[in-house]
Amino acid sequence: MDNVLTTEAAALILGVSQARIRKLIKDGRLPAKKRGRDLLLQESDVQLFADYGRKNVGRPVENDCVNATIMEDGAMYHTSYESTILIGNGEIRSDDALNVLPTLPANRYQMIIADPPYFQVLLEEQWDNAWQSSDDYLNWTLEWVRQCKRVLKQDGLLYIFGQLGKREHVWLHSCSILAKEMQFHDMIIWDRAVGYNERYDSFTPQYEMVLVLRHAANTKPYFDKDAVRLPYDEEKIQSYLRDKRYKDKEIREKHLRKGKYATNILRVPSLKGSSKEKIGHPSQKPIALISQLISVSTRKGDYVLDPFLGSGTTAASAQALGRNWLGIESNAEYVKIAQKRIAEIISVPEFSLD
Ligand SMILES: C[S@@+](CC[C@H](N)C(=O)[O-])C[C@H]1O[C@@H](n2cnc3c(N)ncnc32)[C@H](O)[C@@H]1O
Repeated sequence: MDNVLTTEAAALILGVSQARIRKLIKDGRLPAKKRGRDLLLQESDVQLFADYGRKNVGRPVENDCVNATIMEDGAMYHTSYESTILIGNGEIRSDDALNVLPTLPANRYQMIIADPPYFQVLLEEQWDNAWQSSDDYLNWTLEWVRQCKRVLKQDGLLYIFGQLGKREHVWLHSCSILAKEMQFHDMIIWDRAVGYNERYDSFTPQYEMVLVLRHAANTKPYFDKDAVRLPYDEEKIQSYLRDKRYKDKEIREKHLRKGKYATNILRVPSLKGSSKEKIGHPSQKPIALISQLISVSTRKGDYVLDPFLGSGTTAASAQALGRNWLGIESNAEYVKIAQKRIAEIISVPEFSLD
């Protein structure tokens, strides 16, 4: 296995400063790959350099450093080429979320979008039925949420998708437990615009939920309400402009044309089988939905994390919006789908989110 090293890890291995590593890269003595503002090196290259090319480069290599594990904010940071795909502004880790999350630096991500297995909702999917009981599932949920809390910035938000099942309604218990673990911030309704015809003993279900959590009661999360506004239709604008109470029509019209704030019921049609966006994942979320969440919760350049990347909707939206991102997905087939999807976005310079 050949690890990927940050300049910080390479500096530790060679016993020199990070500035020295950057200079060696600049001089062409160490090969590296640029990823955003970071430079990444391959462990074997650093090792070769240590063995043969390191005259005057510092103290001898310490064996226990060569696995490229470094401490950052008390956390381990370790990547390997085998499980990491660097692409665009981000990276996909093809691994179990619980293997990767503990290795991420604390306090890094402005926003986390988690669309986890729901437990016995998608009865045909192995990944949605991997727990013996709802208690096992809830314990697992607590484990990854605690890790998410650790890596979430103090003014960040954690969005968790949830659905009620046909037999198990574990989502209700998750919400209650998680609201004790972190601070409840909001419950967003994703209105799928059409019902999915699964119930005959009640109204037809049409929505899914997104629980939003922040660190604590006294933390104030970043949230740009202006980033998502809904346009008024022309008829409404004209009728509002006839309102005599507003003297300055120009200012009034400018204000109306900005549109109104979105509510916490986000109406975005779910993806139909025939949709061009649909890419072969049973619970793929629409880009139009995820990109609204990212737009209000992050600025350009912020880091977005998705521990259950699936077909890569979060990565695709973050990439198109100029955010940095990290996605974790345990199913190698979905990783390939996500990778292809992001590559396509990168190849279209003016990718539209509509
Ligand atoms: C609900 S889907 C996410 C769908 C995604 N939001 C999209 O738009 O495509 C959940 C995903 O989590 C993945 N998964 C399940 N258990 C996992 C684990 N322990 N670590 C990482 N990924 C996991 C599944 O393979 C599945 O693709």
